[in-house]
Amino acid sequence: MIKIAPSILAADFLALGKDIQDVESAGADYLHLDVMDGIFVPNISIGLPVVHAVRRATDMVLDVHLMITKPGRYVDDFLSAGADILVFHLEADEPQEICAAIGKVKARGKKVGLSLKPKTPAETLIPYIKDLDMVLIMTVEPGFGGQKFMPDQLDKIRKTRALIEAENPACELEVDGGIDPQTKDLVIEAGANVLVAGSAVFNQPNRKAAIETLRE
Ligand code: DX5
Ligand code: ZN
Repeated sequence: MIKIAPSILAADFLALGKDIQDVESAGADYLHLDVMDGIFVPNISIGLPVVHAVRRATDMVLDVHLMITKPGRYVDDFLSAGADILVFHLEADEPQEICAAIGKVKARGKKVGLSLKPKTPAETLIPYIKDLDMVLIMTVEPGFGGQKFMPDQLDKIRKTRALIEAENPACELEVDGGIDPQTKDLVIEAGANVLVAGSAVFNQPNRKAAIETLRE
């Protein structure tokens, strides 16, 4: 079953509560929150106070995507703010620090994911895969919504799916960036089971229809 995770980066921040209720009643599976620090990626988005406010507005699973350097520093804060699945980037720190951050999330009984930028190969996941609840393959360079899907990531999605099947079949495989009614077929065929969608949900007049089309 394919899950849809609308990214609030494309929502109306002045009407965030309404937009969240809208996608919740439209049947979204997860709510995707993009946290950017202006260092790991060339953009700054939202932080802890917004995650905390969103937590109070919905019971949906909060899938928090940290695009920040040295994410281990903020694991406890984002979990306390209400993240259910905390995803950070494998490129964002040294391997031993990434391992420690994964351990911190698990010690608090929450789900943990690792994300890969487009240039990072699937094989880099091997030392971590057994401990993960989710892998997030970026299908654009992280930092901005509304970018064009990168078809050269499909092979990596396939390799990641094979790795998951071999090492940790319960792990979810999420994709993020440029997912729309055309590109979703490609990523599903390659093995993704959670689709992040910003523009393809929030910029549509009928969000329920948009979510259903992506899930079909
Ligand atoms: C980009 C973010 C994405 C973004 C996706 O760095 O991680 O979650 O919101 O936006 P769309 O679906 O519009 O490409
Ligand atoms: Zn994201």
